[in-house]
Amino acid sequence: MTETPEAKEQSASLERTVARSREIDAELARNPSAFRMLTGDRPTGDLHIGHFFGSLLNRVRLQDLGVQTVIVIADYQVITDRDGVGPIKDRVYSLVADYLAAGIDPAKTVIFTHSAVPALNQLMLPFLSVVTDAELRRNPTVKAELEATDGRPMSGLLLTYPVHQAADILFCKANLVPVGKDQVPHIEMCRVIARRFDERYGRADSAQPVFPAADALLSEAQMILGTDGTKMSKTKGNVIELKMTADETAKVLKKAVTDSDRHITFDPVNRPEVSNLLTIAGLCLDRQPAEIAAEIGDQGAGALKKIVTEALNDRLSTHRERRAGFVEDPGYLQTVLADGNARANQIADQTLEEVRAAMRMAY
Ligand code: TRP
Repeated sequence: MTETPEAKEQSASLERTVARSREIDAELARNPSAFRMLTGDRPTGDLHIGHFFGSLLNRVRLQDLGVQTVIVIADYQVITDRDGVGPIKDRVYSLVADYLAAGIDPAKTVIFTHSAVPALNQLMLPFLSVVTDAELRRNPTVKAELEATDGRPMSGLLLTYPVHQAADILFCKANLVPVGKDQVPHIEMCRVIARRFDERYGRADSAQPVFPAADALLSEAQMILGTDGTKMSKTKGNVIELKMTADETAKVLKKAVTDSDRHITFDPVNRPEVSNLLTIAGLCLDRQPAEIAAEIGDQGAGALKKIVTEALNDRLSTHRERRAGFVEDPGYLQTVLADGNARANQIADQTLEEVRAAMRMAY
């Protein structure tokens, strides 16, 4: 297979990011307070176990390590590829409940919705001035997201959302962005914007550029698939959401796809469904999936499902209890978000002031 220059550049960029991620991991342990981390979620649905093991736990780990932590609920990003916002308010509070249940501490971490922060959104204008239409059209993540909409025309917001995402990151001068592989092109764009802003508009009186170069931090965690061994998707009914009860979880796992070989082995390439269940059990029990497979041996898929159901329900029980407590107290969730939004506004106002000064627009 011949690779296009674009595909080549994309895999080279990913390689650089992986190498840099490792370096950062080492630096994080030495000097956590040198980092400000920003990451976030689109409120398009409820969080599932992929989010829990793939990102929530890592956010909590970094927060507790002493990294300054900011979480954006990217509500404007919901309308990049669909016509309406859906039950957005419920989804936003559901995210806040999951963050808190997972151990995000609102005294340490700013949780905010970007629609509530005018100065962040205003950064979009100078940022748009430093990128070209061709660069935006080349963005592989935007292309993939457009393709996933089944023939919808590209909206102006979909085309430019990587620039808006750069505003999410740069409004608070974050230098660390934990994301999945698919988001790496956006972090590159964010670095380009920070650099070009400095080249084109300069600085006010400071020796430092207004914006830092942000690094992506890639998760080393093995990707979790849906219970049928394909990508998780709500419409396929293959997802285990954090808000599900233990019984609902058991039901989804009972229907999980396995294969006809009774002897259980960990073989992600040839046995993706069985291996995915072993991966989930491994994450819950903090054990190697292959070791769990060896213990199950010839007892078959029934035994595997029993183990993974128990392990998962056990692992999520504290999260679910705490989550239920928060959901019963919507007033508290509102206060957390209102506080987070107020703090995000303070930070964004300060940054916009610096931007105005750098652009000689402070009148
Ligand atoms: N686009 C991200 C996603 O779909 C969510 C997101 C919005 C984000 N703004 C961000 C992630 C800023 C990291 C930094 O997962």
